[in-house]
Amino acid sequence: MVDQRSVVSCAFLLVVVGLLFEPTFEQPSQPPMPLVSPAERAALLELRSSLGLRGKDWPIKADPCFIWKGVECRNGRVVGINISGFRRTRLGSRNPQFSVNALANITLLQSFNASSFLLPGSIPDWFGQQLMSLQVLDLTACSVIGAIPLSLGNSTNLTALYLSYNNLTGTIPASLSQLLGLSVVDLSQNRLTGSIPTSFGNLGNLSVLDISGNYLSGSISPGIGTLLKLQYLNLSNNMLSASIPPQLGDLGSLVDLDLSANLLAGSVPSDLRGLRNLQKMIVADNLLSGILPDNLFPTLTQLQVIVLRNNGFTGGLPNVLWSIPKLSLLDVSGNNFTGMLPNSSSNANATAAVFNISRNLFYGGLTPLLGRFSDIDISGNYFEGGVPGYVGTNASLGSNCLQNVKNQRTLKECSSFYADRGLAFDNFGQPESTQPPLVKPPGKSNKKVIILAAVLGGVGLIVLLVLFCVVLLLCLRKRGTTTQRGVDVGLATAGGSPPPPGAPINFSSVGDAFTYQQLLQATGEFNNANLLKNGHSGDLFRGVLENGIPVVIKRIDLCSIKKEAYLQELDFFSKVSHARFVPLLGHCLENENEKFLVYKSMPNGDLSNSLFKKTSTEDDSLQSLDWITRLKIALGGAEGLSYLHHECNPPYVHRDVQASSILLDDKFEVRLGSLSDVCSQEGDTHQSRITRLLRLPQSSEHGASGSPTAVCAYDVYCFGKVLLELVTGKLGISASSDTNVKELLDQILPYISIYDKELVTKIVDPSLIVDEDLLEEVWAMAVVARSCLNPKPSRRPLMRYILKALENPLKVVREDSSGSARLRTASSRGSWNAAVFGSWRSSSEVVVIPGASTMKGEGASGLKHSGTSGSQGSGPTNGGGEHSSSRRRHSRDICPEPSGVHDVEKPDQD
Ligand SMILES: *[C@@H]1O[C@H](CO)[C@@H](O)[C@H](O)[C@H]1NC(C)=O
Ligand SMILES: *[C@@H]1O[C@H](CO)[C@@H](O)[C@H](O)[C@H]1NC(C)=O
Ligand SMILES: *[C@@H]1O[C@H](CO)[C@@H](O)[C@H](O)[C@H]1NC(C)=O
Ligand SMILES: *[C@@H]1O[C@H](CO)[C@@H](O)[C@H](O)[C@H]1NC(C)=O
Ligand SMILES: *[C@@H]1O[C@H](CO)[C@@H](O)[C@H](O)[C@H]1NC(C)=O
Ligand SMILES: *[C@@H]1O[C@H](CO)[C@@H](O)[C@H](O)[C@H]1NC(C)=O
Ligand SMILES: *[C@@H]1O[C@H](CO)[C@@H](O)[C@H](O)[C@H]1NC(C)=O
Ligand SMILES: *[C@@H]1O[C@H](CO)[C@@H](O)[C@H](O)[C@H]1NC(C)=O
Repeated sequence: MVDQRSVVSCAFLLVVVGLLFEPTFEQPSQPPMPLVSPAERAALLELRSSLGLRGKDWPIKADPCFIWKGVECRNGRVVGINISGFRRTRLGSRNPQFSVNALANITLLQSFNASSFLLPGSIPDWFGQQLMSLQVLDLTACSVIGAIPLSLGNSTNLTALYLSYNNLTGTIPASLSQLLGLSVVDLSQNRLTGSIPTSFGNLGNLSVLDISGNYLSGSISPGIGTLLKLQYLNLSNNMLSASIPPQLGDLGSLVDLDLSANLLAGSVPSDLRGLRNLQKMIVADNLLSGILPDNLFPTLTQLQVIVLRNNGFTGGLPNVLWSIPKLSLLDVSGNNFTGMLPNSSSNANATAAVFNISRNLFYGGLTPLLGRFSDIDISGNYFEGGVPGYVGTNASLGSNCLQNVKNQRTLKECSSFYADRGLAFDNFGQPESTQPPLVKPPGKSNKKVIILAAVLGGVGLIVLLVLFCVVLLLCLRKRGTTTQRGVDVGLATAGGSPPPPGAPINFSSVGDAFTYQQLLQATGEFNNANLLKNGHSGDLFRGVLENGIPVVIKRIDLCSIKKEAYLQELDFFSKVSHARFVPLLGHCLENENEKFLVYKSMPNGDLSNSLFKKTSTEDDSLQSLDWITRLKIALGGAEGLSYLHHECNPPYVHRDVQASSILLDDKFEVRLGSLSDVCSQEGDTHQSRITRLLRLPQSSEHGASGSPTAVCAYDVYCFGKVLLELVTGKLGISASSDTNVKELLDQILPYISIYDKELVTKIVDPSLIVDEDLLEEVWAMAVVARSCLNPKPSRRPLMRYILKALENPLKVVREDSSGSARLRTASSRGSWNAAVFGSWRSSSEVVVIPGASTMKGEGASGLKHSGTSGSQGSGPTNGGGEHSSSRRRHSRDICPEPSGVHDVEKPDQD
């Protein structure tokens, strides 16, 4: 337009002056015409004076179409005015006004650009009624104030509206959504309030929507997801809340997404994997949480910039991040991400120039992956070991647990971080003797046990057996009565054995000591109205502490409930602190016959009561949890159990896995509860073997005390039932006794086949809305559930493989490449679940469990992690015997086929 204009004015000059230049200009297709409309001339002149434009730009005597800067004509009529960046006369700048009334008489005006020209005033209401042919309105940075007039919605030919960097107030008029031709809406950097009009979903031609830097509130309308031509969406720096609508994933053309600096909560929906053209994903500075979905990034191959800074994300970074080809900026700082860095091997292709993972919970050694980045910030994590040469000297390494680096965390911080996760810390490369006893590596004490056992020899064994007989006879009804206490295996000792008198639990480490008076007050004197339920380990009351914190209080009447139960639970809490368990706030032990445990109240109750919620108090219609949330719950549960089974030493068994044990916080993150039955597998394995030896019917003990067998495989079985509930919506599967549930399983299981996806639709919860994509995940979860329900405990998958499978459900049912091989394996071993989990088992060398470690292989210690320089020498060298076999993570060792289990779990589906 400019070029054409200057060419035109050049031509005019040439004609007038009669000079001959080289004929480089092209003849315009139409002969230039002077302004033909006297009304428009008058209007331009009036505009010139009302805005105080200079004669230099708009010389009063010359023809506007030929000479005036920024005036564009067609057939002698003005169609464009560009006063962008113009300066006013001295007089005009004395009292600048938004006085453009004359524009109303320029009836064919298509474009008005006044960017950076001061127009302090509001956009006139008549704009929308008079400027009917306007297509482009650019008032960027004009100091415009007031509201965006509703009438603008009548300017139906508008395609581009730029109003950014002003002081506009009020709400965004919904009438704008009548402008179906709009392709650019830039309202950024104003002071607009209210919410984004839901009707914006009508603007099907929109390619740029920028409303950043305002005070918008409310949620992001799912309607935005229908703007299929959208390439640029910026809603950053507002006060938008609620979660990111999954519908945004439909924006297949989107290149640039910025939702940073809002109040968005919830997790990143995996539906965003539909953003196949996305180059920038910026969601920094929100309240987002949860785990990044594993299936999110594989389809986002165009990504260059990923900024997740300052949220509350947890879990590991998906491995696929490292193979996004064009990644140039990865900033995940200020979250709760954890895990170890992968070794930069073949699959790592990211060449990000900038890599910022500071202020997270990453640990383990530094890996060659870092050699590929030019700008590295890993400060504020828990990395250990030395700093390899490939890490540049300008990398930020502070506040870690690194050797020979300044400004690192204290030994105490590092040790307890690693110990909390059941990992060994390399102790800054110092000899282990200086380590606090807290993190004494399990291997050491274990050796002592072996030596001790050897010394005691056969005699000791007989004594032990006799002792056991006596113990068993004395307390036939008590469970978990082994004598593991004497063996100090560090932080995660046996929880199955109640502490013997004289070795009390350190109660100060398990929350506050409340007075009975406080609890009376909190619960309205244990008013029946506050009774939540009569649990088998005590009555649960709802309450509110003095400081207003809602709690759940368990009252344990020692006359009817065994003392061990609550001590066992306190013992568990004194040793295990993990985000997947319900927080214990304290206890009250001052009464003789009544003890109390105080838990944090979980806003969403438990799975059994929140899978379906009444939509309102009046009508009876139920709203059910969506699939994404269900998958998240399954994952959370698996994480908790996987922690118990594989990261505690000896492994803990939950023994009460059912929907009502799966508590849900405000974000539907799982916090496992019902922990009074938790016990260590090792202890009970002892017992069960001895029972078997003595041919004592363990089932009778089981029947009498109502406590199920303490093997991990039992948890897996129960978890399978929970998964089935999530898939089918048939609550009660996990809570009912096994005889009752058999019939249900017989009905359901035949519809789960790894070979036939469609079958599963017959049993899927009808209230679930699942599309083709999601159905595959549902199918995968059903398949996992079925393998958990294998009647043979030894054939059930380990929890860590279940976790892995749920993290990447599609891998369970896809994997076309190895499909045939899998099937062959399956038939030859006759094990269906080997087919499902085979790939993870065989590739367990590269399996990284979030929050855990890289498994070295089936036989290696699950607690040790590889990749730390200082740890090689201290690996447990188990010679054999009970203890070592329990530490080995072989499925048969972890889940021995216990006698008596068969009468608990008998569904027959193989
Ligand atoms: C508008 O006018 C300014 C100043 O004369 C000029 O720099 C700019 O290129 C023009 N823009 C358009 C789109 O014509
Ligand atoms: C527009 O033109 C009409 C006549 O054509 C005239 O009466 C009126 O004053 C003009 N308005 C402006 C703002 O110039
Ligand atoms: C208005 O003019 C400015 C300055 O030249 C330019 O950058 C901008 O792109 C123009 N706006 C439109 C819509 O063309
Ligand atoms: C709006 O655009 C259409 C198509 O470009 C055109 O025919 C019509 O005249 C325009 N309306 C106005 C009021 O200029
Ligand atoms: C908006 O108004 C405030 C005060 O009224 C002023 O300080 C600020 O510079 C203005 N911003 C713009 C972009 O005009
Ligand atoms: C748009 O135009 C219609 C008819 O011309 C009128 O009734 C309505 O009030 C106008 N809307 C606005 C918001 O000005
Ligand atoms: C990380 O987790 C800890 C403990 O749960 C919490 O206090 C902290 O606020 C979290 N940090 C972020 C950035 O969410
Ligand atoms: C890594 O990059 C190379 C070259 O850019 C490319 O040929 C190769 O396919 C990429 N590998 C992966 C796993 O993306």
